[in-house]
Amino acid sequence: MSAPTVPTPAREPRIGGGAATVPGSGIREIVMLAYGRDDVVHLEIGEPDFPTPAHIVEAGNRALASHNRYTPSAGIPALRTAIAERLHERYGLTDDPDRVVVGQGAVQALAASLAVLLEPGDEVLLPDPAWPNYEMQTLLFGARPVRYPLRPERGFRPDPAEVASLITPRTKVLILNSPSNPTGAVLEPELIRAMVEAAVERGVTVISDEVYDEIVFDSVHANAAAVAPESVISVFSFSKTYAMTGSRVGYLTGPSWFVPTVARVQEPLLSSVSAASQASALAALHGPQDAVRHMAGTYRARRDLVVDRLTSAGLAIDPPAGAFYLMIPLAEGVDSRRAALDLVPRGVALAPGTAFGETARSHLRLSLASSADDLNTGLDGFLDWYRQTSGGAR
Ligand SMILES: Cc1ncc(COP(=O)(O)O)c(C=O)c1O
Repeated sequence: MSAPTVPTPAREPRIGGGAATVPGSGIREIVMLAYGRDDVVHLEIGEPDFPTPAHIVEAGNRALASHNRYTPSAGIPALRTAIAERLHERYGLTDDPDRVVVGQGAVQALAASLAVLLEPGDEVLLPDPAWPNYEMQTLLFGARPVRYPLRPERGFRPDPAEVASLITPRTKVLILNSPSNPTGAVLEPELIRAMVEAAVERGVTVISDEVYDEIVFDSVHANAAAVAPESVISVFSFSKTYAMTGSRVGYLTGPSWFVPTVARVQEPLLSSVSAASQASALAALHGPQDAVRHMAGTYRARRDLVVDRLTSAGLAIDPPAGAFYLMIPLAEGVDSRRAALDLVPRGVALAPGTAFGETARSHLRLSLASSADDLNTGLDGFLDWYRQTSGGAR
């Protein structure tokens, strides 16, 4: 029997929309170089090194055994209710479960939000430096990322007047992120208010990424939606708070004109988040919170250790006030990607500032999500390199 003929496409296949313009991750480059190497101290990765608390794991396992089925696309009602109660108690936001949508991690809640808001040609104002996924998502939806600088000399804080000056008739969304990845900066309530006002008064919707809200060391976290509830979408996550990045559960709350549409589009986007993961998330909210406090306290002690060692070595460090990252300045003008590539063979993996934008191109991001022993070993290697190269300049 002769083989069937394979039809020839009438024109070249083409990757559609913005997908072709989505860049690869600059953190991933270092992760892959250091991958599987136990002669390298891994300080490049942004995920908790603690085990997921046992009661959270067990709840997920029980759900797998008893109810491994699709769930409502906006999340199981019990979880939406528990989240609404938390948001109400903690931030005074609405306690209506219909105003909550569960996502597959905060990353998917953010993507769904941008999918709902953006049209091709829109502009999205996002921080520089920022978690790389904001830019990738913006490009994916055919919109244009416009960066607002978080300058090291301002403690990586935005200037609301500068942000206002970047707003054009095409600006649709302003992304805020406090506590910040990668800088660890925590914005003061007055600064958050000024940023929200700058956006809202010019007709721009705010997406406030607050996934590190429970990891704050020296102050309290301020929620941006409290400033203008009908103009701010707040995104949260279970990943960092409960050391359960693999479960992939995050959530959002937002204005009444916005949330029902996101709830509807979760169906075509993912049908529903894993039933087992949602059961884990519910157990996380209902169960004891001591692990949350323990982890935040440990990150703080590690922060102090790293700040002490770096400042004793003569580096000017801005101590992070939240999240679990710290930015290390190199000599002026040094390309941090080159520095990060140079450090891996010396046994230290750090994320280059270039992975997060332009403003921190001469900084390296250190993750505090590693043991004190690993941090000390990594700092030994880093400081040797720093001295030998005069901060990467040679
Ligand atoms: C600032 C920021 N937002 C969102 C996320 C995504 O979190 P999730 O695991 O909930 O998708 C991360 C993860 O690193 C992050 O750093």
